[in-house]
Amino acid sequence: MHRIGVLTSGGDAPGMNAAVVSVARFAALYDMELVGIKRGYNGLLRKRKHIEDDMEILALDTVLDIADQPGTYLRTARCIEFLNPDVREFAVRNLREMEIEGLIVIGGDGSFNGAMALCNLGMPCIGIPGTIDNDLAYTERSLGYDTAVNVCVNSVRMIRATSRSHDRVAVVEVMGRNCGDIALRTAMCTGSEILIVPEQTFNMYQIANRIESLMRDGDTRATVIVAEGVFQNQNMEPFDAYEYLSARDPEWGKKHSPNQPLDSHTLAKALRYMVPGCEARSTVLGYIQRGSAPYAEDAAFAFESGALAVKLLKDGIQEQVIGVRNGKVFFMPIREALGLKPKFDKNLYDLINAL
Ligand code: F6P
Repeated sequence: MHRIGVLTSGGDAPGMNAAVVSVARFAALYDMELVGIKRGYNGLLRKRKHIEDDMEILALDTVLDIADQPGTYLRTARCIEFLNPDVREFAVRNLREMEIEGLIVIGGDGSFNGAMALCNLGMPCIGIPGTIDNDLAYTERSLGYDTAVNVCVNSVRMIRATSRSHDRVAVVEVMGRNCGDIALRTAMCTGSEILIVPEQTFNMYQIANRIESLMRDGDTRATVIVAEGVFQNQNMEPFDAYEYLSARDPEWGKKHSPNQPLDSHTLAKALRYMVPGCEARSTVLGYIQRGSAPYAEDAAFAFESGALAVKLLKDGIQEQVIGVRNGKVFFMPIREALGLKPKFDKNLYDLINAL
């Protein structure tokens, strides 16, 4: 191959830039020209007036500047139109017109589905997992996950310093979509006492009882780590927060409506009533989890995965995704990888909640 492309797609993840840099360095090593496609699959659809806004030759000099930067220099987006087969054929025509012979896609499962579709149309693709959520079953780690966890760990430590000073319980919500991995690892690394994840149902009364017993034993800074997906799944045993809170706070009933899904702030407020003396406060960490420069684990994986992706294309191997298994970087067919069922570490979950 003489010319290959690279794009970042889905939510941005720390390490995406570092992976692009690695791709650029190894492409240069094999005398391949590298084209950066902007805004995920959108760039392949040539939506913008000037081609430089959709595609850009990535000179080594340009990319070396971005290696340590958070975010993604190539920009990213989710491209719903790409589900349409005609649109995908149009994308392949554009790639051919640009003389791009292979494509490296850095993103999550939606992005990999797009890559598989392009392979079926004869465009060789390789996927590098890039999502803070770590929700790809085939790999132990995706780019951005370790950095997001480090951000969460640092944040929880800071929150707990103030919680401890005030003898307060902290409820901290972290990202992860339907996956509880960020929450689990954050809870483990911070010694948090209660973990709530979408993979396991939870019971508000049990949580309240546990906080009560922790507080009785002198643990007045008990920390609840909750994954955002819990509130989307509503994976909880019956607890009508509206009814419970309206019965205790008439103002609540006026400001909120029944059937409003539970959120972290409501959860903390309910705990304040359920546990005598519990001054629970909530924090939603939000986008800071995606906005850090990559920590070492992600930077190292970016280096290795970028190198392997270019080598696979060079060797004529396609339709593969790169991942980590038993701590080692490996690759496997995209279709098989996407067919695997997510696994959740129930043992660790039980350990965290038992201590
Ligand atoms: O997939 C990464 C992620 O940050 C999820 O953890 C989160 O649910 C989602 O993206 C948020 O997406 P957006 O930035 O489009 O609101």
